[in-house]
Amino acid sequence: MYLSKHEEAVLSGDYGDAAARAMQVIVRVGDVLRADRLLEIETAHVAGVSYLTIGDPGLEYLEDLAESGARFRTFTTVNPVGMDILNNWGIDKEFIDRQWRIINALRKLGASLWLTCTPYENLRIRPRTYHAWAESNAVAYINAVHDAWTEKLPGPFVVLSALVNRVPRYGLYTLSGRTPTHMVRLEGDPLISDPLIAGLLGRKVAELVGDGKPYLIARFSGNAVIKQLLASYATYSPHAFMVLHGITPNSDKYMSMMDKPETIDVSIKEMRRDNVEGGNYDVDAVFLGCPHYGIEEVNAVINYVRSKGGRRASKPVYIATTPFVLSQLSSETINMLKEHNVYLVLSTCPVVSPFLRSVGVSTVATESVKQMYYLPKMVGIKYVSCNGVECLDIAFND
Ligand code: F3S
Repeated sequence: MYLSKHEEAVLSGDYGDAAARAMQVIVRVGDVLRADRLLEIETAHVAGVSYLTIGDPGLEYLEDLAESGARFRTFTTVNPVGMDILNNWGIDKEFIDRQWRIINALRKLGASLWLTCTPYENLRIRPRTYHAWAESNAVAYINAVHDAWTEKLPGPFVVLSALVNRVPRYGLYTLSGRTPTHMVRLEGDPLISDPLIAGLLGRKVAELVGDGKPYLIARFSGNAVIKQLLASYATYSPHAFMVLHGITPNSDKYMSMMDKPETIDVSIKEMRRDNVEGGNYDVDAVFLGCPHYGIEEVNAVINYVRSKGGRRASKPVYIATTPFVLSQLSSETINMLKEHNVYLVLSTCPVVSPFLRSVGVSTVATESVKQMYYLPKMVGIKYVSCNGVECLDIAFND
């Protein structure tokens, strides 16, 4: 593999032992993947930072790395952790303490502690720039919505990439790796406006194309449904890459790159019948915010609650969101939501946190096909699927 003078210097220890060791791994992996050179990245996004998933080995690795003097050379954001950093929701102290040690190690390494799976909502991401991201929904989003180039990388590999500001050039970092193989169209060209339907469509496309690369022709009512589409698609796809006709910058170029693509027509009507598993359980709560809700989605909830004329939800509604959204809301609005049994949850995700259990929830209603996939597997929580406003109706009309 070709290495620049700077990369050779990092490899030989001129920038410290930690950077040299990281570069050794990056080069070794690059060789295995037949990368011809390394690429300079603009951002990194680290995932796999919950104490629930990485435990003591992951905690000790990050602490040792931070103690060794290693520092990120890339602007690096961080995925949700195992707890809400503003409210422990009854999670036991030992878990909280260890989670803080992980957060503090990442802080020492130089990460920006956004603790969200939607960093793309607060970054200016330019087309055809290189990134090292580990969170699948975010990988799918910046590839499809910004034509920014990243592979779906393992969390520890992103840590190493951020230490040297480089990734190997392979797969989705090459034009040939990004060439669509399947054209997917929707029968009747419907406007997709339902979050659950968008998620089911994402899953269906992933199942139909396997490890192929879809070019999807579909119309969406807004960013919220595109997030659901891509989060679900990325859950079921091995690579998380798709091109969205008319949305992905350069989508016309991607279309012209396709050579006799297989064309697949998908029926939304069929998809409604082909519903998700789950069950007819009584739910203990509603969970929204997978991927983390942005201001547009949170405002829709606020408007819904206000429209209820002071009626309080009979079941709690938990909404995962970001510090950027919180900073745009007044304390009166946040308190108004609490009075209606609606809670904003920061910096975490039920799939990597014991928080739903710690507030006594064992079954939730959710619109997110990604949550439906992971909740039973990761934390033993059952789910009922719901769609958009219907999710809030479950809590308010009961
Ligand atoms: Fe985010 Fe968790 Fe969903 S990390 S995309 S809220 S599964």
